[in-house]
Amino acid sequence: MTSGNVAFDEPVAAHYEAWYETPEGQRADELEKAILSRLLQGFSGSGSVLEIGCGTGHFTHWLADQERLVVGLDFSPAMLAQAQALDGVLLVRGDARWLPFADGAFDLTAFITTLEFLERPREVLVEALRVARHGVLLGVLNRWSVLGLQRRLAGLFNQTIYDAAHFYGVGELKRLLRSVAGGKAHIVWHTTLFSHGWPCSQARLPWAGFIGMTLVVSDGFREVG
Ligand SMILES: C[S@@+](CC[C@H](N)C(=O)[O-])C[C@H]1O[C@@H](n2cnc3c(N)ncnc32)[C@H](O)[C@@H]1O
Repeated sequence: MTSGNVAFDEPVAAHYEAWYETPEGQRADELEKAILSRLLQGFSGSGSVLEIGCGTGHFTHWLADQERLVVGLDFSPAMLAQAQALDGVLLVRGDARWLPFADGAFDLTAFITTLEFLERPREVLVEALRVARHGVLLGVLNRWSVLGLQRRLAGLFNQTIYDAAHFYGVGELKRLLRSVAGGKAHIVWHTTLFSHGWPCSQARLPWAGFIGMTLVVSDGFREVG
């Protein structure tokens, strides 16, 4: 199965983690996790998380380190082969459009740099909300950032995983979530400051490199300052 024109196949999977080893990748990783962590802390008692599009398990393992019970789901066997099932982490092969779980099976569902690659994002978010008791956590690269522009240009001029990706800005992401949750939508978001590499990880800038956003559908959320 492919996501766009370039599949998450073995060559892509084999090199996927290497970016996180670069200075830019390490910095981005640190900032992104700071934002996701702040949003996660807002959900009191949210113990279980389904990470949809878990890939090589980079964030799946980090979520488990936050003392969450985590299931990682991905449709690419090559990406999953790079991921490891550890204590507190279960890996499942499946399609985000038809999650093999009961209604409300998890406290949260999460998409971390995955929404951009989904062919039917609205349909997938409806399904993600079905299996989540408290809400959905999103981490996306910002369409209107330098990094987003670089990725979009790379997708236009090279055959990369970005060639069929759709990058979102804050406004489009909010509209998408509202269209999924309707009147129930309580949306909280944070960004990195400017682009990756900038020393501050907590801001609310529409042109920042990375957006963390949650759709909250239960009462158990409080903003963490
Ligand atoms: C860019 S990777 C992100 C992986 C991981 N979340 C991370 O940030 O390192 C996107 C992942 O989404 C997966 N994916 C795309 N469409 C999917 C679908 N419909 N169902 C399940 N996984 C999907 C791909 O196989 C890929 O592993």
